[in-house]
Amino acid sequence: MDSKEAKRIEELDKRHVWHPFTPMLEYEGMPQIVVESGKGSWITDVHGRRYLDGTASLWVNVHGHCRKEIDDAVAAQLGRIAHSTLLGLGNVPSALLAEKLSGIAPGRMRKVFYSDNGSTAAEVALKMAFQFWKRRPARGRKKRELFFRFTNAYHGDTIGSVSVGGIDLFHAAFEPLTFRTVSVRAPYCYRCPFGKKDGQCGKECFGELDRAFGKWGDRCAAVIIEPVVQGAAGIVIQPSGYLKHLEGLARKHGVLLIADEVATGFGRTGRMFACEHEGVEPDLMAVAKGITGGYLPLAATLATDEVYEGFLDSNPAEGTFFHGHTYTGNPLACAAAIASLEIFEKEKTIEMLQHRINRLARLLEKFRELECVGEARQIGLMAGIELVADRESRKPFPREARVGFKAAMEARKLGVIVRPLGDVLVLMPPLSISNTDLELLADVSYRAIETACRKVMKAGSKAQRSPP
Ligand SMILES: Cc1ncc(COP(=O)(O)O)c(C=O)c1O
Repeated sequence: MDSKEAKRIEELDKRHVWHPFTPMLEYEGMPQIVVESGKGSWITDVHGRRYLDGTASLWVNVHGHCRKEIDDAVAAQLGRIAHSTLLGLGNVPSALLAEKLSGIAPGRMRKVFYSDNGSTAAEVALKMAFQFWKRRPARGRKKRELFFRFTNAYHGDTIGSVSVGGIDLFHAAFEPLTFRTVSVRAPYCYRCPFGKKDGQCGKECFGELDRAFGKWGDRCAAVIIEPVVQGAAGIVIQPSGYLKHLEGLARKHGVLLIADEVATGFGRTGRMFACEHEGVEPDLMAVAKGITGGYLPLAATLATDEVYEGFLDSNPAEGTFFHGHTYTGNPLACAAAIASLEIFEKEKTIEMLQHRINRLARLLEKFRELECVGEARQIGLMAGIELVADRESRKPFPREARVGFKAAMEARKLGVIVRPLGDVLVLMPPLSISNTDLELLADVSYRAIETACRKVMKAGSKAQRSPP
């Protein structure tokens, strides 16, 4: 693209595109990156500048950009049909993909309900759970109309998924629109919500679950959890056994267990699904992001036969789940997903990933040398580096210093795209990233953090010195 056209497109982007999760006033004044193409772990902007895609294009890319097998599968499907509805009709790729998904899902989830993104996949699971209990004969039991949710949870941006979210920055504004839930304090070992220091842990977060289920277990339809790791909270990893303990409580109290594998699914944590780390079998599971290898919008809510059979009724009005999106089960997206899963099989992606995970672990050790790194945590090929003003006391930087954002901007200058979650810098490359690129990602992130922290500290001490 010539530079005149590149500039024109940048102008159009600034003039017309309202970017999600982006402070637009700031964006209007910032240098932009408008992506034109990608290959492997790299993306290229309209000026031909290349950047390492350290966010896997928002946690979705699995096998790299422009993978021939997926390109070919989508092109072949385009020659047949681009879209037909799943409302009362089937289509070939959605049937083939449903078989594959139910084959790899943990437990016995044989039913696949398609939608288009992670928020709707979670929303569908919540509505299914609600209707499931509504249809059950009461037989003296209390109505199950509540949901357990976790602090710091993120399940998407539709009002249902916001209702079970727990990140104030994202969710507080919409609180009046949300439905009633029972909030449970989620574990965050680096900043224990129960005030415990390292070495003092008495598994208080397990006790919190016991108490919550003891009190509300007979009133809740379901509990929704990001299994093993809360992604948007800043890659906050749960203590070992926590998910299994939750599963036990859900079974004991008859509460449906919804695993939101939107971020963790399709190899991200080193297993196909994060539930596998603890041998947990959910009743409902939401998947999206990596399902198509990062190609096209597609999501699915998987359900056990038991949940599905709860909806069967000879009266059509009673036996219908009244939810469905226009592009549900889109054939192009399903064809991409099938091709992606075939690569998983052919290339033994999960097996091959293990050495990359170990390499990332080694690379993260170096970050701990940096004074402003409080914790560098990792599960699979997802890492969160939490930046702090004081390592000893774990005191955060003032929010307005925006040190995480600044570190990401420094990384951009060095040709690497990473995104912060508050003051946690997230490294989430495509699963197929090469060793050299993984090293580059770590090296640039290290330097970017060092520079951003130095600048923020310097500005802070200057402000302290200047007269009020
Ligand atoms: C665990 C989890 N659930 C749901 C979502 C929402 O997905 P989407 O952005 O596709 O709506 C996300 C997005 O980051 C997520 O991490």
